[in-house]
Amino acid sequence: MYEAYWNLKEMPFENTPDPRFLYRSPQHEEAMARMLYVIQYRKGGGLITGVFGCGKTLLVQALLDQISQDRYKTAIINNPQLEYVELLRAIVRSLKAIELPQKKTELSADYLWEVLGQILQNNMRDGKETVIIIDEAHIIQDERAFEELRMLLNFQLRDRFLLTLLLVGQPELKQKIEDNKQLEQRIAIKYHLDALNLEDTKRYIQHRLAVAGQTKQIFSEGAIGLIREHSGGIPRRINHICDLCLLGGFSRKASLIDEEIVRHECKE
Ligand SMILES: Nc1ncnc2c1ncn2[C@@H]1O[C@H](COP(=O)(O)OP(=O)(O)OP(=O)(O)O)[C@@H](O)[C@H]1O
Ligand SMILES: [Mg+2]
Repeated sequence: MYEAYWNLKEMPFENTPDPRFLYRSPQHEEAMARMLYVIQYRKGGGLITGVFGCGKTLLVQALLDQISQDRYKTAIINNPQLEYVELLRAIVRSLKAIELPQKKTELSADYLWEVLGQILQNNMRDGKETVIIIDEAHIIQDERAFEELRMLLNFQLRDRFLLTLLLVGQPELKQKIEDNKQLEQRIAIKYHLDALNLEDTKRYIQHRLAVAGQTKQIFSEGAIGLIREHSGGIPRRINHICDLCLLGGFSRKASLIDEEIVRHECKE
């Protein structure tokens, strides 16, 4: 819509987890490094928390791009609003290694644990590492599902874990994990992503614009300050405001997004 007007090749502020747009703020960099550490050094479990819209799902996508598909077998569960057996079934399905019976009744927990054990052994035999990532893990309600996650980390050899489990979710996930001491003890790294500060908000906006083809400053310093204020430094909100500002600036044929435009769009 406004791309040509602002000399953009594509829309810069879409709320989609497209790793090309990832701005590696010091925090995002650190979260990524820690996730890679747990995976590469087979440390067992990792926990990444952060407020809604701060970039957790995008980071997971970027992580997947970064780890070699030849070496790692990954399962991603995006919506773990599941009870105990269903979660296990989703994990086994997602690892996709073995054909499962169609009938749910044939998929008892015992059977699934056995299949999972086989998958892990097969992966190890083939020289592959198994990584299970549960995004939105804060929505897990079933206590037994947390027990199940703990049991996943019981697949160990004498000297190493047989799989890596990454739990990703909103801040309340941390408490949920801490309430399950045995699970918590198996979590090797924890990291909490906060909102972006002013400097990072500025770099974030510039980075996304540059990926979309615009390297000039089209937001004034004052505008960026206001965007930081109104968004609280949360990327999803920054995207939303910046998108509206580009649209508003286009309608009024502005050459720069200034404070006046940001104020107007935030009021709307
Ligand atoms: N570091 C970043 N660089 C570029 N874009 C980002 C970054 N962090 C977040 N975003 C963008 O912000 C939006 C929200 O990010 P994402 O969906 O990853 O958040 P989330 O933490 O998973 O939120 P929720 O808790 O609601 O699931 C996405 O459009 C994403 O592209
Ligand atoms: Mg998410």
